[in-house]
Amino acid sequence: MSQRVQIFDTTLRDGEQVPGCQLTTDEKIVVAKELEKLGVDVIEAGFPISSPGDFRSVVEISKAVRGPVICALSRAVKGDIDAAGEALAYAKYKRIHTGLGSSDIHIQHKFNSTREKIVEQAIAAVKHAKSYVEDVEFYCEDAGRADLAFLAHLVESVIKAGATVVNIPDTTGYCLPHQYGERIKYIFEHASNAHQATISIHCHNDLGLATANTLAGIMNGARQVEVTMNGIGERAGNTSLEEVVMALRVHKELGYETGINTQLLYPTSQMVSKMMRMPVQANKAIVGRNAFAHSSGIHQDGFLKHTLNYEIMSPTDVGVDKSMIVLTARSGRHALKHRLELLGFVFEKPVLDELYKRFLDVADIKKEVNDKDLVELAREAVVA
Ligand code: KIV
Ligand code: ZN
Repeated sequence: MSQRVQIFDTTLRDGEQVPGCQLTTDEKIVVAKELEKLGVDVIEAGFPISSPGDFRSVVEISKAVRGPVICALSRAVKGDIDAAGEALAYAKYKRIHTGLGSSDIHIQHKFNSTREKIVEQAIAAVKHAKSYVEDVEFYCEDAGRADLAFLAHLVESVIKAGATVVNIPDTTGYCLPHQYGERIKYIFEHASNAHQATISIHCHNDLGLATANTLAGIMNGARQVEVTMNGIGERAGNTSLEEVVMALRVHKELGYETGINTQLLYPTSQMVSKMMRMPVQANKAIVGRNAFAHSSGIHQDGFLKHTLNYEIMSPTDVGVDKSMIVLTARSGRHALKHRLELLGFVFEKPVLDELYKRFLDVADIKKEVNDKDLVELAREAVVA
């Protein structure tokens, strides 16, 4: 029996913080509805105290989206929590996500506070959030750099105060996978009540390790992952939803599952990219333009013999129509022959060899040879 990992999507909060990605309330509703169709468990809809527009967005998403839990962010201060509670008034399933810094760096240089005062503030924030909603998530900001014994104590304290979910963010993307995994393990071993709450993972990608760290967290007992479509988010971004979901699906032997309809991953990625005016890099795992494109002769030959030679998942699993064989000067005869046959041209080997030479000349100039170019080359070969 697989264990279920909850998908907490923060595209509309951490993702939307990216300069240039801001959305109107109407646009946020469109994205939230797509995330609902995709099958996410929680939508972090915004940070209501941050602006009247964000407050309105949380209100309207709460009315429009009834399946997933709608979550609103707040710092561990009364005014923020009040705004989050009020913005969530219409939500069918609601959660307040409150918290504050847990590393000594944040405690000293951001809050000018002490560990003791931080714990007091955290407990008060959870208790106040509980006056609005049953489901309260607490984030221990910068947990990736926090003193472990203190972190475990903070986790234990907020669960005792009523937190249902505790988020252990690697806010600065500092940890290596084994370190992050050990942090989660330590929490389960040292916070006596950790099993009474869901431990959540929230990783940033400053070292390109967000997905690896997230998987390490799951393997050490966390059961919620905080992710964004296309990995958008502060600085180098957050963990990509599509990468974690497909890693768990491709590696079924690990024994985890999510509620995501994976065939909607590519369309959702495209929609988010367009709405947020944030292009997806061509080599982005799962949803990039080249994720299922084969371009070198060796790979194309192997792929045409059997797709399994070069693909660990089918493009249709993630909503991409089909794999692509891109014809460039690095392509081989096998790929050229295959494409010509698809275009209705079958040549004997000597003609194909000749045509291949001409193809390489064109490819060196044009970089990518398209079907129109090929038809021209093929017609010339027929005439000759
Ligand atoms: O990265 C972070 O620590 C956050 C918190 C606000 C959850 O985004
Ligand atoms: Zn974050």
